[in-house]
Amino acid sequence: MTRLSPASLPAYAERYPIQNFDYRLLDSGEGRKLEQFGPYRFIRPAPQAIWPIRLAQKEWDQAVSEYTYSKGKEYGGDWNNSARLPKQAWNLTCEDLVFEIKPTGFGHMGLFPEQAAHWLWIRDFLKSLPEGSPKNVLNVFGYTGASTLAAAAGGAQVAHVDSSKASVNWARHNLELSGLGERPVRWYVDDVLKFLKREHNRERFYEGIILDPPTFGRGAKGEVWKIEKDLPQLLQRCRNVLSREPRFILFTTHSPGFSALTLKNMMLNYLVEPGSGRFDTGEMSLHNEEQGYHIPSGFYSLWWRD
Ligand SMILES: C[S@@+](CC[C@H](N)C(=O)[O-])C[C@H]1O[C@@H](n2cnc3c(N)ncnc32)[C@H](O)[C@@H]1O
Repeated sequence: MTRLSPASLPAYAERYPIQNFDYRLLDSGEGRKLEQFGPYRFIRPAPQAIWPIRLAQKEWDQAVSEYTYSKGKEYGGDWNNSARLPKQAWNLTCEDLVFEIKPTGFGHMGLFPEQAAHWLWIRDFLKSLPEGSPKNVLNVFGYTGASTLAAAAGGAQVAHVDSSKASVNWARHNLELSGLGERPVRWYVDDVLKFLKREHNRERFYEGIILDPPTFGRGAKGEVWKIEKDLPQLLQRCRNVLSREPRFILFTTHSPGFSALTLKNMMLNYLVEPGSGRFDTGEMSLHNEEQGYHIPSGFYSLWWRD
């Protein structure tokens, strides 16, 4: 195990190098970020980037589309597409994982690049476990499946849960693109809380759990998810499906106020005994190597036992 500290600051790039990632943060500032997703550049909001931009305007002008929030709204906005925006989705690789990319509502691209260090940690950690160790991994709020692909690449049997059928189909496609289509992955279009209750009743248990709850969401039948109200119940239900020999739990958030310490405290209250394993907690970031900037992009708390 060489990769023990995904996304740790300030030494993210040095401690956790990612080879062959087709994503790059090119510049940031004045509340925006300029990003390269494979061959195309995009501009998206970055409210935390309150510093000046560094690159010349002509670099920013190469963006094929810009997403801006609608006035007065933190969520919801519009893409302003140039004629250079491709009509078709395209592929992006991160080491051996391949993802289909396209701009979608809410300014998303089908991938949260600040999680990249975690994908590789998950893959390598699972590979490093002793031969024959059970490796059942649950990925809830799984979206387009990046962590699911990583766990499958690490040799795990994976359950992937998301309320959006379109996202689950996209994740299945990404698994195929990555040449992992034959790996044992079970797909569930379901409300996470309901799924966890059913899974407990079915007496299915997991050595690894990945949870990345949004601030607000909806289950498959319109059930309302609100992080500040539903988090304790989510963790309690995760506890019910945690194996007696757990290996890792990765808990991340993008919600203001749900800091790394909050996540760790929640894990200690609901999921793991103090002293039972190791913790790595911190801020996720998008990192620009040349400029040395990190754009804060949420929090993580990782617990593991070798
Ligand atoms: C922040 S994204 C997760 C990103 C993902 N973990 C990744 O790293 O690529 C949130 C996801 O949660 C899903 N979601 C929201 N509320 C849900 C619910 N109640 N049950 C299941 N999925 C839900 C959304 O469809 C969305 O795909």
